[in-house]
Amino acid sequence: MMARCIGSNGLKNVEYSRFAYEMVVSSLGEGWQQWSELVSENELDEIISFCDPIRTTAHSVVVLGIGGSALGALAISNALMHLRHKELPEEKRKAPKFYVEDNIDPERMESLFDVIDVGKSYFIVITKSGETGETLSQFLMMYAKLSARLGDKAREHVMAVTTIGKGTLYDIALAEGFKIFGIKKGVGGRFSVFSPVGLVPLACVGVDIKGLISGAAKAKEYCVSPHIDENPALMMAALNMSAYRKGRNISVIMPYADSLRFMADFYAQLWGESLGKKYNLLGETVNVGQTPVKALGVTDQHSQIQLYTEGPLDKVITFLTVSQFRNVSVIPNDKRISGADFLKGHTLNELVNAEYFATAYALKKAGRMNMTLEISSVTPQTIGELVAVLMYQTAFAGAMLNINAYDQPGVEEGKKEPSL
Ligand code: PA5
Repeated sequence: MMARCIGSNGLKNVEYSRFAYEMVVSSLGEGWQQWSELVSENELDEIISFCDPIRTTAHSVVVLGIGGSALGALAISNALMHLRHKELPEEKRKAPKFYVEDNIDPERMESLFDVIDVGKSYFIVITKSGETGETLSQFLMMYAKLSARLGDKAREHVMAVTTIGKGTLYDIALAEGFKIFGIKKGVGGRFSVFSPVGLVPLACVGVDIKGLISGAAKAKEYCVSPHIDENPALMMAALNMSAYRKGRNISVIMPYADSLRFMADFYAQLWGESLGKKYNLLGETVNVGQTPVKALGVTDQHSQIQLYTEGPLDKVITFLTVSQFRNVSVIPNDKRISGADFLKGHTLNELVNAEYFATAYALKKAGRMNMTLEISSVTPQTIGELVAVLMYQTAFAGAMLNINAYDQPGVEEGKKEPSL
């Protein structure tokens, strides 16, 4: 990121105001920053004891929700479950198949009912407002099919995660007798993954939610540090915002691990919806925000990297890397095959890391700002830490831009009842 490393296109120093830091840290746990108050051991136990029977009996668990009500569970389940979980034979799969339905494409919705056994599935309907049209339409479709199959027992296969006492889903859940988990008023959609919004579906498919929360708690300890060198969230926010002031309007997130692929989707929503704002906190028109772009290493080395290396100087690339993959995959040293000797006997682990390093080096040589967030390995603890760091980073960046990172008027506008 720095001029001393990449030359004159880099940053001479990392700027951030102490006031922005204080703004976030002094009001953690209050107002819209209630996401930083992590659930208690008792709340975790309650979730686990309700969800465990579902984990052991359901064939499929389906989340019906969109945006912040879907992406956290999607990103974390993809990181922590077998990468081909749904395709595993039943005896090897230790948890139900997991579907996060965050779209209303008619073909996708119908195809879901072709692959799941509705009567042996469990549905978690998640909407904080209780009013989102996409989620309610999915619910209505699902509940009609489920009731046709199970009659009165259908209600035992549905859970609602919503705001207690408010909204259409809450009313339906009460009337139908669904189990309800509540979402606190001060926890916004894209900051809700450590609430029942993320924890309930993850517990239903056997993710270690206690490990996840312990990782988030660890991150909280260093994310409140005023020392930027000890606080990666503050550091990355300051780097990104310093770069933004130098015209880097695009923030590319590029995990070098398939397990982190949907972390890029999670980040894109968090960064885009939180920071893309018309007004600052003084009510002045500012039209700010860095556009998030998703990429995947090494795949996108063969597509987008050309643009990042030689295209406009408008991007910051953040690599997400893993030092220890959960497997070691050896490239056989097959003597019968002539050629490709440079690969033989090495591992895919070495190759993917070498390719990341070469890409970061090529960007550095081309004077392109890039930074790397490395996690030691993918575990519930490190994923909890990573997600928390991304949320704190977003909160700090919002304060640095002097905008409200927690509202989404542009989204609400588009959510007004579509005329059907
Ligand atoms: O981050 C947000 O606030 C949004 O992305 C919401 O999560 C999304 O619009 C879904 O809203 P709801 O949970 O009310 O259905």
